Amino acid sequence: MATALRLLAFALLLLVAAAATAAQEGAECASSANCGPRMHCAACGDGGAGICARASPVDPLTHGTGLPFNNYSWLTTHNSFAITGAVSLAGTNAISPNQEDTVTAQLKNGVRGLMLDTYDFNNDVWLCHSFGGNCYNFTAYQPAINVFKEIQTFLAANPSEVITVFLEDYTVAGSLPKVFNASGLMKYWFPVAKMPKSGGNWPLLKEMISKNERLIVFTSKKAKEASEQIAFEWSYVVESQYGTEGMVEGTCPNRAESPPMDSKSQSLVLMNFFTTDPSQTGVCGNNSAPLVSMLKSCHDLSGNRWPNYIAVDFYMRSDGGGAPLATDVANGHLVCGCDNIAYCKENSTFGTCVVPPSPPPSPRKAPAKGGSTGGDSSAATSRFPHFQWSCFFGLTSVALLFLS
Ligand SMILES: *[C@@H]1O[C@H](CO)[C@@H](O)[C@H](O)[C@H]1NC(C)=O
Ligand SMILES: *[C@@H]1O[C@H](CO)[C@@H](O)[C@H](O)[C@H]1NC(C)=O
Ligand SMILES: *[C@@H]1O[C@H](CO)[C@@H](O)[C@H](O)[C@H]1NC(C)=O
Ligand SMILES: *[C@@H]1O[C@H](CO)[C@@H](O)[C@H](O)[C@H]1NC(C)=O
Ligand SMILES: *[C@@H]1O[C@H](CO)[C@@H](O)[C@H](O)[C@H]1NC(C)=O
Repeated sequence: MATALRLLAFALLLLVAAAATAAQEGAECASSANCGPRMHCAACGDGGAGICARASPVDPLTHGTGLPFNNYSWLTTHNSFAITGAVSLAGTNAISPNQEDTVTAQLKNGVRGLMLDTYDFNNDVWLCHSFGGNCYNFTAYQPAINVFKEIQTFLAANPSEVITVFLEDYTVAGSLPKVFNASGLMKYWFPVAKMPKSGGNWPLLKEMISKNERLIVFTSKKAKEASEQIAFEWSYVVESQYGTEGMVEGTCPNRAESPPMDSKSQSLVLMNFFTTDPSQTGVCGNNSAPLVSMLKSCHDLSGNRWPNYIAVDFYMRSDGGGAPLATDVANGHLVCGCDNIAYCKENSTFGTCVVPPSPPPSPRKAPAKGGSTGGDSSAATSRFPHFQWSCFFGLTSVALLFLS
């Protein structure tokens, strides 16, 4: 009898241990291989153990493509091209990186908005950090054509995906069309003429896909809309303030160039949430609960509209769900009227949600530095793993009781 019980307890223990090793948002890890699918292992804050953090949102396409484009939210990387480890033309480490994987890797993880800073440099168009509006050897990352070709390759290989590019554009007239032509991206171009001018709905996502109009490009230079058919961003998008001014809970100021967040003449809402001084370690707290709080603030202050783009630095860094979770929350509301797109019930009417049972509260493994606890339904997803862990530890003690 005792042996049978012991064996049973042991089998249970093994079973639970096997389930527990497959991943867990917020669990400690040594490498990404320890984390489940669509997760990344990285430290949260200075030093400390790695934490399994989400790297990918749920692709809203898995819940259909029948809504207007403005009824979807997309994970967006700020300065997508400024990647850790890049070497500048000055021969040193490129300054001030904002991301840690290539644009191709970002796209594979589900990033669908790219923020790129374009400059005339070295007789070409380059992606650089701004230094007084100019590109220098020590602020230069790479020629724009490289990243445009990465986008082209991804669009060709993924015929249902739509990508939006936001250009902080310092180039003169005529520079960009040459590079866009050479990159092979023009065949995916979404025409300016089809963008809603006074706050109407965008075409349905499925129409954009079937017409192969799967690349939306916005520029910060107004004149280029008439001269080069590159849409002037703030005619179509309201955009929140970046930097610390844009990170104050309960507020959602627009950036200076943008109309007010509640302006309804623009159908798309872009939320920025990053500091002007990017920190690969410091970003973790910001990308955790404060990001989800800001999502709600921006919704309330943008005429009750959920952001269509959620732009962050180091998108894979968080204490669990991070920017991918924030994207899932926005898509839940936009796509099916639920608190998370993971709660959408397939083929059901708007507002029919299947919320997983709420797990008992347990201490967080890695409290976000300075982060408040996000008291919302979405936090249920990020606490889920702790439930499984505490279940694991609970069973371990039961097993030990039997074994002793
Ligand atoms: C910038 O880099 C290019 C290419 O490496 C080099 O030819 C040029 O001399 C550099 N300019 C300065 C000012 O260092
Ligand atoms: C880009 O290609 C289009 C169509 O082939 C052509 O009309 C246009 O002149 C090209 N622009 C540049 C700057 O090469
Ligand atoms: C946000 O990032 C800044 C810069 O890295 C850091 O000083 C600040 O403490 C972070 N905020 C939170 C809530 O972690
Ligand atoms: C789009 O999302 C909003 C929520 O922001 C929702 O009220 C609306 O019903 C959605 N539109 C469609 C066509 O589902
Ligand atoms: C939802 O509808 C689609 C298209 O009608 C169908 O192919 C799919 O099987 C349905 N899914 C479920 C879970 O009923």
